Amino acid sequence: PTLHIITPTYARAVQKAELTRLSNTLQLVPNLHWLLVEDGLQRTPLVTHFLESSGLNYTHLNVETPRNLTAWREKGKATRIPRGTLQRNLALRWLREQIDSRSGHLGVVYFADDDNTYSLEVFEEMRWTRKASIWPVAFVGGLRYEAPKINTEGKVFGWRAVFDPHRPFAVDMAGFAVNLQLILSKPHAYFKLKGVKGGYQESSLLKDLVTLSDLEPKAENCTKVLVWHTRTETPQLVNEGKKGFTERSVEV
Ligand code: UGA
Ligand code: MN
Repeated sequence: PTLHIITPTYARAVQKAELTRLSNTLQLVPNLHWLLVEDGLQRTPLVTHFLESSGLNYTHLNVETPRNLTAWREKGKATRIPRGTLQRNLALRWLREQIDSRSGHLGVVYFADDDNTYSLEVFEEMRWTRKASIWPVAFVGGLRYEAPKINTEGKVFGWRAVFDPHRPFAVDMAGFAVNLQLILSKPHAYFKLKGVKGGYQESSLLKDLVTLSDLEPKAENCTKVLVWHTRTETPQLVNEGKKGFTERSVEV
C-alpha cells in the first residue's frame, strides 16, 4: 500500500527548517506520496523549489484559511478556526477526485503536521491499516503521552487522557491513520470547521468513518510511543532590519 501523507504548512521563519526535517524522515519511507498543502492564496516559490529538489513523490496544493474571523462568528462569539483544517480537507478532496476506488489502488492516509517528530516505525505500523489504526502520541493534553486504552480482546475501550477523555476519539491528529478505500467510500467525511470545540477535530472526521470497535491498535498494543507532538520555538529575530540587516535575498 502507498502511504498518502497529508501535511498542512504555512509561511513563517522556521517553515523551511520544519519541512527539511520532515522531508528527511519521509525520504526514508518506501512507497510514499506526500500531499503538502500550503495555507495561502498561492503556492510559494520556497515550497515549490523545496519539493522539486526533494526527490519525493509529491502533490503540491494550496488553500488559504480565512483570516477574517468575523466570517466565522456564530451567535456573536468568534469561533476558533482549527489550524490546518481546510488544508487537510483539500487533500482529502484531491484523493477522492484523483484516485478511482475501482482501480484497486491500495493506500493509507495519514495526517502529518510539519512540526512533529516521526519515527520510521510509525510508517510501517500504519501501512497495513484495514479501516483505521491508532497509537499513542507523546506531548499532548498536558501528558508525557496520550494513548488509547486496550482491553484483553485487543480492542479500544477508552482513552488514557486527562483533557476531556469522553471525546468520541480522544486522539491527536498524529495518532491515527485511515485506509484509503474507506476515505473514498465515504465521500462526505471531512474535518468539520464550525462548531468544533478544541480537541474535537479528530473526532469530527473519525466518527464519520469508524466506530470504536473498528480501531486497530498498533505500536505493540499502544504501549510504545512512535510519534511526538513536538512544537518549535519561534525565533526572536529582533535585530532583523537594524544596522543594514535588511537584505532578503538569502532564503532561510
Ligand atoms: C494541534 C494538533 O496537533 C493539530 O493537528 C491541530 O490542527 C491543531 O492543534 C489545531 O486544532 O489547531 P498544534 O501544534 O497546536 O497542533 O498546531 P500547529 O502545529 O501549529 O498546526 C497544525 C498544522 O497546521 C501544522 O502542519 C501547521 O503547519 C499547519 N498550520 C498552522 C497552517 O496550515 N496554518 C496556520 O495558520 C497554522
Ligand atoms: Mn504542531
